[in-house]
Amino acid sequence: MTVEPPETAGQVLVASNRGPVSYTRRDDGALVARRGGGGLVSGLSALGPDAGTWVCAALGDDDRAAAEAHAGRLPAEDTGGQSVRMLDIPRETFEAAYNGVANSVLWFVHHLLYQTPFEPVFDEEFEAGWGRYRAYNRAFADALADEAAEGAAVLVQDYHLALVPGLLAKRRPDLRIGHFSHTPWAPPELFRVLPDDIARELLLGILGGDRAAFLTHRWARAFTECCAALLGAEVAEGTVTHQGRTTRIGVHGLGADAEFLRERASRPDVDERLAELRERVGPDRSTIVRVDRTELSKNIVRGLLAYRRLLTDRPEWHGRVTHIAFAYPSRQDLAVYRAYTEEVSRVAEAINADFGRDDWTPVVLHVKDDFARSLAAYRMADVALVNPIRDGMNLVAKEIPVVSERGCALVLSREAGAAEELGGDALLVNPYDIAGTAEALHRALTMDHATRTTHTDRLTRAATALPPTDWFLAQLTALRGL
Ligand code: G6P
Repeated sequence: MTVEPPETAGQVLVASNRGPVSYTRRDDGALVARRGGGGLVSGLSALGPDAGTWVCAALGDDDRAAAEAHAGRLPAEDTGGQSVRMLDIPRETFEAAYNGVANSVLWFVHHLLYQTPFEPVFDEEFEAGWGRYRAYNRAFADALADEAAEGAAVLVQDYHLALVPGLLAKRRPDLRIGHFSHTPWAPPELFRVLPDDIARELLLGILGGDRAAFLTHRWARAFTECCAALLGAEVAEGTVTHQGRTTRIGVHGLGADAEFLRERASRPDVDERLAELRERVGPDRSTIVRVDRTELSKNIVRGLLAYRRLLTDRPEWHGRVTHIAFAYPSRQDLAVYRAYTEEVSRVAEAINADFGRDDWTPVVLHVKDDFARSLAAYRMADVALVNPIRDGMNLVAKEIPVVSERGCALVLSREAGAAEELGGDALLVNPYDIAGTAEALHRALTMDHATRTTHTDRLTRAATALPPTDWFLAQLTALRGL
């Protein structure tokens, strides 16, 4: 992949709600920076520390205090040299935009999670929230307009910032603006759940940029179908034209970062946790591993029920398999996420109470985030269980086969974006079908060694085809080439 090196920090900008750094206050009052991982962080690092600027929001009070202390520009020692501007958006605006509109409405729409008790309520509170979503998007557009050098490329990320391309293009027509959706996109019949004017404003916001890109062809198609159905836009191969403006549509599937994962997974802290987990699981037992944020779309409860069904229907597995389920806290400001977190624990405990023995714990559940322990679980996975209701891509499905030392079989939801690339070598399941998932787990556990090794080799090749740096540079090159 070749890309012209940008000359200054203002030449390439990334905008996303969650940035590469977050802060926590220590007991002595000092603010400590913690750097996050993920595709964007490694992607942008491909440009070198001076090349790009990342614009993000302060997520909580500690971030806000840090942003204020540094007048919005985080010091290089906190960011590893990356230029980061952290926006101190007023708390009420941020919370209504992030917890309210983005995570309680748009997330549920795109993930088809709109069923009781998560029905949409478009009342006065939502209207006020929508006004704040606009204000939050405007704050990003203003900051980007202010930061960007003449003709710069701007890569706007995700459903939090759908209005930014349109707002920014009006202020700075010289820029090249791309939007990237990390989520699935809802088909028109579901996207239409949103009030008409808001649905249209979201589509027009993204179409206001030069490019709109997605993780899979399926999500790109759903987006263009929404544009045709709700705006009457003209859709051709790879473009959407509306009111005289043409926006390119792109697909960039994000792959696992094999080099980083293998190196990180071989460090002593992971070895230590591997030894602990092995002890906990006991010798000669097969493992089914899942690692997720505790997120409704990840379908963790049905995954546990499928495992329960396996133990019920096939008692020969009692004492011979352990389900390692890591479900890390996410979006705990929202009551539905808190309730879901409790349900996950309840269902896991019930399985252990009903089937467990002195020498065997059927489910090992951990709910405290620990990346080193996740990698240890990846290493000992015989079967990976990834069964989301819907998922933009799902990187865990790609990471486990890369790191597993046992050559692992993958049970994968056909509704995960990853199924588009990995489907041929995974056992695909309907995420709602508990009996079908239980059956797939049994087939995965009984797959012979040679078949498993062949699948793992092919999965690993497919999963690492587009590592984060290539994924990022491909978007940048496509945007610059317009
Ligand atoms: C999804 C979104 C990402 C987001 C992540 C974590 O994968 O597409 O943009 O970073 O969830 O969500 P959070 O609300 O914790 O930022």
